[in-house]
Amino acid sequence: MKKLFAVLLALAMLTPLLSAAALAATDVGIVLPTKDEPRWLQDQARFETVIADTDYSVEVLFSQGSSATERTNVETLIAKGVKVLIICAQDAGAAALTVELAKEEGITVISYDRLITDTEAVDYYVTFDSVAVGEAMGQYLLDNAEGVGNSLYLYAGAATDNNAFLFFEGAWNILQPKIADGTFVIRNSSEAIALQDQPKLTRDQQAAIIGQITTDWDFNVAKSKAEAHLTAVGADEKGLCYILAPNDGTARSIADVFSSDADVNGYYVTGQDAEIASVQYVIDGLQSMTVFKDTRTLAQDAMDMAITVMEGSIPATDAAYNNTVVDVPAKQTPVVVVTKDNVVSVLIDTGYYAVSQFTGIK
Ligand code: BGC
Repeated sequence: MKKLFAVLLALAMLTPLLSAAALAATDVGIVLPTKDEPRWLQDQARFETVIADTDYSVEVLFSQGSSATERTNVETLIAKGVKVLIICAQDAGAAALTVELAKEEGITVISYDRLITDTEAVDYYVTFDSVAVGEAMGQYLLDNAEGVGNSLYLYAGAATDNNAFLFFEGAWNILQPKIADGTFVIRNSSEAIALQDQPKLTRDQQAAIIGQITTDWDFNVAKSKAEAHLTAVGADEKGLCYILAPNDGTARSIADVFSSDADVNGYYVTGQDAEIASVQYVIDGLQSMTVFKDTRTLAQDAMDMAITVMEGSIPATDAAYNNTVVDVPAKQTPVVVVTKDNVVSVLIDTGYYAVSQFTGIK
């Protein structure tokens, strides 16, 4: 009996400590889409550097590709009393309802990299210039094309990601006039062929094309689509191929498929994110380029914005993005094209990566 009393007394004394720990306040909550893509691990690492430098308490959670987990993460952060939520949405539309929960609690919502659509509950957007990403990809393919009739294979990101539309829009800006004049011939999308004389596409037209050529940002989807496309065409539609791949992970899968096809005797393939594996592919001549998006700048900009808000000021912005309901004030960062020729000056000399992370750099 005495023992039981002692245990109960000890528990009673611990309870306030336990509940205090459970409610430990967090100032800024960060929600990233998944740990399964190197891109978001880069952002996590950069956020950790930025967090180490601030007096505010910050917590990073991952949604692991699930809008339901994303919502639970946001609920957890709301319970911890965050004042600012920095969120890179898994699914732009599904996240609208989730951020509305935060907004109801008076939390400032910053869309990070991917714009959350269909809601008023987004205060700011911190992003790279995503149309410029697509334009850089299109320009790279164009700069390497000669004559007419060059085989063009188009791929896109996930239709649930607003960025997939912006990347495609940028690429289309550059490629469409060169498809219309015969420099390129689209080999893998009847929807894109049907619209190839149209310089500007509506969102619905873009959606029709993206629906056909989407990779869902998934390496396996990219691989099986590329295999199916090469199976569907004759040898005369292969030869030297020009491939618009939407990011590094999908670029590597698609490149592997094209390089193992006997009728493909060369290819140019785009990418973005400067993932370590793709930088190695670029060095080895297996991927032609990647668009470097300096996550150091993005993480810093997002945290600076959060701190400005917590200090009661209005953050500086330099663009606005319409999310179908409101124009969201945005802070936008430029991007840099990386090829074999400038890997060292852009990625190594600036300290983004160490030379020891790669082989074959002289
Ligand atoms: C990002 C890309 C990334 C892709 C897949 C996009 O929203 O902007 O950098 O490769 O998502 O995760």
